[in-house]
Amino acid sequence: MKPMRIDGTRAIVIGGGGEGIGRGITRAYAAAGASVAVTDLDPERANVAAAEVTAAGGTACAIGGDVRSSDDVDAMFARAVRELGGLDVLVTVVGGQVAFVPAVRLHEMLDEDWDLVYELNLRYVARAARAAIRTFLDQGNGGSIVSVGSVTGFMAAPRQAAYGAAKAGLLSLAKTVSTEYASEGIRMNVIAAGAVATAVAASAQDPDAVDQIPVGRYGTVADVAAAALFLASPASSYMIGQRLVIDGGISVRGPFS
Ligand SMILES: NC(=O)c1ccc[n+]([C@@H]2O[C@H](COP(=O)([O-])OP(=O)(O)OC[C@H]3O[C@@H](n4cnc5c(N)ncnc54)[C@H](O)[C@@H]3O)[C@@H](O)[C@H]2O)c1
Repeated sequence: MKPMRIDGTRAIVIGGGGEGIGRGITRAYAAAGASVAVTDLDPERANVAAAEVTAAGGTACAIGGDVRSSDDVDAMFARAVRELGGLDVLVTVVGGQVAFVPAVRLHEMLDEDWDLVYELNLRYVARAARAAIRTFLDQGNGGSIVSVGSVTGFMAAPRQAAYGAAKAGLLSLAKTVSTEYASEGIRMNVIAAGAVATAVAASAQDPDAVDQIPVGRYGTVADVAAAALFLASPASSYMIGQRLVIDGGISVRGPFS
């Protein structure tokens, strides 16, 4: 089967460093013919992801910025639009809990830790979606917003209550955005990822827990990137305000199976 192509698509990836999911999506989009603005809090990480693409013959630029700042987000979008000549796709990737605050039960959680997790998993997504929508409306050609969420958005998230609640909020945001702007060709969908083997997640993943995953392995960044490619492409144009679950069966396994 031929791999899906998105030639001519211009995409911004929010959070693309390390060997993480953002870098995998950047790599997959560029390989499929898109030009990509890859952004990160750490500009060097964005540089590495962009350099990997250009070395492989693709088109990418690196932009540094902090998603917690509206000024930074607006500046990242302005530069991406300038460098790419427009914008068709936004992918939000930054998120998590264990990388940012301690994993504790709710009665031990500090207000500031809750606020930070909420900010880095939901609040900034609304900020980035707003910037993308303004650009899409100016251009008049619609656009796709793809947000990397988690199965914790619809399953329990022990010791990660803020993370689960914020990821649940992504789906509500996707439904509202898609409904508000459907007539203008703008849509938003969420990828609900299971346990993905990334450097950050590895510290929190119990090697024995792989037995709980029906397919018998952790997900890869390529698994998530394939879903992100579909959601960026016209092949998913009739899909709006939905979640695409990529979890190796974690969420379908019951207690007796
Ligand atoms: N890895 C998993 O098992 C797993 C499972 C389900 C969902 N997810 C989701 O996938 C997404 C990415 O996970 P990952 O493991 O690839 O993460 P990661 O830690 O590898 O990458 C996150 C990137 O975001 C950047 N970043 C952090 N704070 C930032 C800020 N304020 N502004 C801009 N950039 C910032 C980091 O520098 C890093 O490069 C998250 O939303 C996470 O919730 C991951």
